[in-house]
Amino acid sequence: MVIIKKTDIMTLNSLGLETKKVKGLTNDLNELLANFQIYYQNLRGIHWNIKGKRFFELHAKFEELYTAANINVDDIAERILTLGETPLHTFEDYMTKAKVPVGQNIYQDEKAVRLIVDSLTELLNIERLILNTSDEANDEGTNSMMSDFISEQEKTIWMMKSWLNETV
Ligand SMILES: [Fe+2]
Repeated sequence: MVIIKKTDIMTLNSLGLETKKVKGLTNDLNELLANFQIYYQNLRGIHWNIKGKRFFELHAKFEELYTAANINVDDIAERILTLGETPLHTFEDYMTKAKVPVGQNIYQDEKAVRLIVDSLTELLNIERLILNTSDEANDEGTNSMMSDFISEQEKTIWMMKSWLNETV
């Protein structure tokens, strides 16, 4: 007779994913959401405050990036909901999870571009950790979302570093 211990029983949700693993995953996704919101707000700040001869070029580029980040934020929040949890939505919660540097009063072009690189480096760290957890949870939806974010952000870092005349 096979004895099944209570701890061995996996509870699957209606997506076919293990409830316990999904819970850990949504906590990590909320951390990513919080940090993405800080990245988004960093982009708004530099879009507004940028000064100098490259104003028109950078003002437009930062708008392009915050528009994309806004879509990413919504996708992360809706992924958390799809997995059965609640996305964080207050600034207070976001600040308790902040790993992305908060840019304040940045108007110099190089500092602004560096803020983007530093923010994306932190987002990539979180996304790679999530990729491990989502892989472990067999969650292909989150896996593919992280893969898309990672390749897109890596490309943005390359471009920003090229603009800074530096290598990745
Ligand atoms: Fe604007």
